[in-house]
Amino acid sequence: MEDMLKTLPQHTCSWSKGNIAFYKYQNFWTSQTLVVGGHLAQQTFKAEPTDIFLCSSPKTGTTWVKSLAFAIVTRQKFDDSTTPLLTKNVHECVPFLERDLEKIVENHKNSSLPLVATHLPYPSLPESVIASNCKIVYVYRNTKDVIVSHYHFLRKALNLTCEDAPFEEAFEEFCQGISGYGPYWDHILGYWKASLERPDIFLLLKYEDLKKDTTSNAKRLAEFMGYPFSTEEEKAGVIEKITSLCSFENMSNLEVNKTGSNRVGGLENKLYFRKGEDGDWKNYFTNEMKQKIDKLMDDKLSGTGLILK
Ligand code: A3P
Repeated sequence: MEDMLKTLPQHTCSWSKGNIAFYKYQNFWTSQTLVVGGHLAQQTFKAEPTDIFLCSSPKTGTTWVKSLAFAIVTRQKFDDSTTPLLTKNVHECVPFLERDLEKIVENHKNSSLPLVATHLPYPSLPESVIASNCKIVYVYRNTKDVIVSHYHFLRKALNLTCEDAPFEEAFEEFCQGISGYGPYWDHILGYWKASLERPDIFLLLKYEDLKKDTTSNAKRLAEFMGYPFSTEEEKAGVIEKITSLCSFENMSNLEVNKTGSNRVGGLENKLYFRKGEDGDWKNYFTNEMKQKIDKLMDDKLSGTGLILK
């Protein structure tokens, strides 16, 4: 592993005051720990056809989709007063491929939870995921909000103030493709193109659509995963109970998410809940920045049929 790491291009993010070192592994950038985790998963992970993959680029709505999927899949086991989502951060409830291989193997053995989350780009998924025809849910979000969210997440994780860590520099690096699991456009395009070839195994969700109409999207998610809501459940308001449970307001105000931290380097859970809005980028972007990223995304997505907000 050490020899492999030595061969990879490295980049230290200037805006992070030298605190973030990314490695370029198989055409995407990420931290050393996650390169190692991704590599191990590729070498050893054996998917089961019943696995449901929750895939995303960081800061696009992973926490939200994981919460919804977990609440939907486990709704026979737990109700809204006993669900682990009330006492554990969702990243502890749904295993992450790059970190939790043992837990996933245990879940396979006990058939306890079919959900597996990953940030790996589509071409880097372990071969068995594709060979097993696993269902894949992919969430994506407009690039400008992802840039802002990504910046604040890493800045706060590093205890840097906005003065210490200039947003403009973080923006420039993102535009160069250097961000967690970036380039962001390649991440989306990988899943987008694969979904056109294999529409039966993909459900693509947009963060903005989820904001606009959480109920219908939760319904789509449940149907796609093979856990559809029955007419009785719909009448009893089960979908609404799940969407309220997983709402930003509810999740961000739970004690565990206000004060707890998780195994990912002791990261505070509250970092996963910032504003949860569509369009916060307007508070950060100059006109020039807006034009630059719009042009860049137009160039990258042109001819692909993919339209971000
Ligand atoms: P902001 O930083 O724009 O607020 P990820 O989960 O992929 O890391 O993405 C984090 C982003 O999703 C953050 O966006 C966070 O606030 C937002 N988020 C987390 N939980 C949410 C929820 N239940 N509903 C809506 N947005 C949520």
